[in-house]
Amino acid sequence: MDPHLAEPEPSWQGEDPTRPDVAQAEDPFPGLRRMWTIAPVNHTPAGLWRLYRHRDVIRVLRELPAGVRRRDGTRAPGAMGGGGGAQEEGGTFMLQQDPPNHTRLRKLVSKAFTPRAIERWRPRTREITTELLEPAFEAGRIDVMEELALPLPSQLICEMLGVPVADRKLFTDWTTRGIHILRGQFLSPEERADVVDAIDHLAGYFTELIAERRGSLTDDLLSSMIRAEEEGDRLTQEELLVQSIGLLAAGFETTVGLIGLGAKNFARCPEAQAELRGEPGLIASAVEECLRFEGPIGMTTRVLHADAEFDGRVIPADTTVWLSLWSANRDPEFFDEPDRFDVRRDPNPHLAFGGGTHLCLGAHLARMETQEALGALVLGSTALEPEFETVEWGPSLFRVPATLPMRLRPS
Ligand code: HEM
Repeated sequence: MDPHLAEPEPSWQGEDPTRPDVAQAEDPFPGLRRMWTIAPVNHTPAGLWRLYRHRDVIRVLRELPAGVRRRDGTRAPGAMGGGGGAQEEGGTFMLQQDPPNHTRLRKLVSKAFTPRAIERWRPRTREITTELLEPAFEAGRIDVMEELALPLPSQLICEMLGVPVADRKLFTDWTTRGIHILRGQFLSPEERADVVDAIDHLAGYFTELIAERRGSLTDDLLSSMIRAEEEGDRLTQEELLVQSIGLLAAGFETTVGLIGLGAKNFARCPEAQAELRGEPGLIASAVEECLRFEGPIGMTTRVLHADAEFDGRVIPADTTVWLSLWSANRDPEFFDEPDRFDVRRDPNPHLAFGGGTHLCLGAHLARMETQEALGALVLGSTALEPEFETVEWGPSLFRVPATLPMRLRPS
């Protein structure tokens, strides 16, 4: 029997694809392929629509009039982080805003994330990576999560933002818990209380840090956001606080997940390791394949701003649609042999960073860090072998392994 037609994971038939156990399924892809095959345009009993094909997902992200709120500016039920109460309604993170608010916020922080600004961090990233990997190469063993995937992005984002590195354990916990705000209306009252508690801690922490920094500006990202001015426009204190927390939340666990998942897929695929060792210049394309093959974010949502037709069915304006990025990235109509981890894949127009107006602002940073981390791990060894059968997953909303023990032979 075609494994893609096997029964889907029960959770894929439920109403909440943001449930943590979906991100933590050992292999969510057969279930997604089944949805792609039997119901690529799928109307759920809760009134929400789900789209599974690359062409449909990209059409919503880039072509159709759509946003993250309804046309009247309110948040819609079923949208990521939306419809769940006053806290989300007033959210001022850029990802919760449509133009023109979104345009203004993104412009004020985007300078720090251009490819040129990010390349300046590459030497420092390499230095941290080398330091982190030294003991592992000596021991011939590594827990990729604990020794590389977690400490590298957290140390780097601390240095970029100007947050004391010693505090990173604190905000690792707060961001892991706080990011569940994206589940919006699907949170139970206990889960919501935990999210609010974590966000309160983050807000208190950053309020102090911002006050301190106002007194003595440096060249870090926090100072540059305080200074940021476009045509006389500045971020308010509230906006500044929310963008700082949001950047940390959006950028930290996602990169941890990508480095971990990439290392896992390399460890399980000795052919891919050999190809990269034979041609180290493939590292950039290998990281694009890591993003396509198994990125840390499975889905996102949009609210249509006009009626739109899919397969002859009309989805009305102001309806929330769920977009499966994982399914789009494994779409057999779009990618040859989509279930093959092919480090030479070119072109590779995956949607792991979303697309359109909200295309991931941190994409260059995530790419650069992962190129350095996986490049050092695979190219610094002659073999990378998994010491795990199935993956143990962490508590993240995203797909982030908890541990990934591996053997490595230094070259
Ligand atoms: C592997 C790592 C990452 C992945 C897979 C990822 C994925 C995404 C996706 C899918 C979106 C779009 C969500 C939507 O349209 O609904 C997004 C937006 C965003 N990401 Fe990332 N991200 C990553 C790393 C980062 C990093 C390192 C940062 C910054 C430090 C960052 C900052 C942002 C921001 C600010 C947005 C919102 C942009 C906007 O609203 O205009 N991300 N990311």
